Amino acid sequence: MGRGRDRAAGLGHVGALGPSGNIASDHDLRKLHVSDKRNAIIEELKISYRMEIETVMNYLANSINLDGVRAEEIKKSLEADIAAELNHARLLGRRIKTLGGAVPGSLAMKFDQASMQPPDDPTHVVAVIKGVIEAEDCACRQYEKLIKLCDGEDYVTQDLCITLLGDEEEHRREFRGFLKEYAK
Ligand SMILES: [Fe+2]
Ligand SMILES: [Fe+2]
Repeated sequence: MGRGRDRAAGLGHVGALGPSGNIASDHDLRKLHVSDKRNAIIEELKISYRMEIETVMNYLANSINLDGVRAEEIKKSLEADIAAELNHARLLGRRIKTLGGAVPGSLAMKFDQASMQPPDDPTHVVAVIKGVIEAEDCACRQYEKLIKLCDGEDYVTQDLCITLLGDEEEHRREFRGFLKEYAK
């Protein structure tokens, strides 16, 4: 039994195979841990990327569909956010690529943003405002998950997600303000 095997056994990894197919050394195990962690981060980044793309789709639809005087400010704000969310997707995509992943296409995505589906009544501005708040909440939770996942592992992704979390919190605060007025 070699030293690497002894140490692997001591770590509770008896039989763990390294990249070479032999029993893993501490170094191999560390490398496996790093690549597992990196893959987990890439997968979570892809989820955020998909959420941003879906947000762009739904903000765009609602910014066009809404009718009425009360809708005008909301439409303008959604239009401004479309550019911001698209840029979030771009930044996430670049980070996925830098980490060795690939940005997914539409067929690899499953959408689920129920809160932001355009309402049947195109003057139902409050439904859209509430939908935005929920969508921003979901985005914040996903960035918080990534920030925790990256802790001590990937400071660049963590820094990006902290910035994006700040943007989403601002969007959410803006629409919470709209809700105070529009729900009167
Ligand atoms: Fe975003
Ligand atoms: Fe946002």
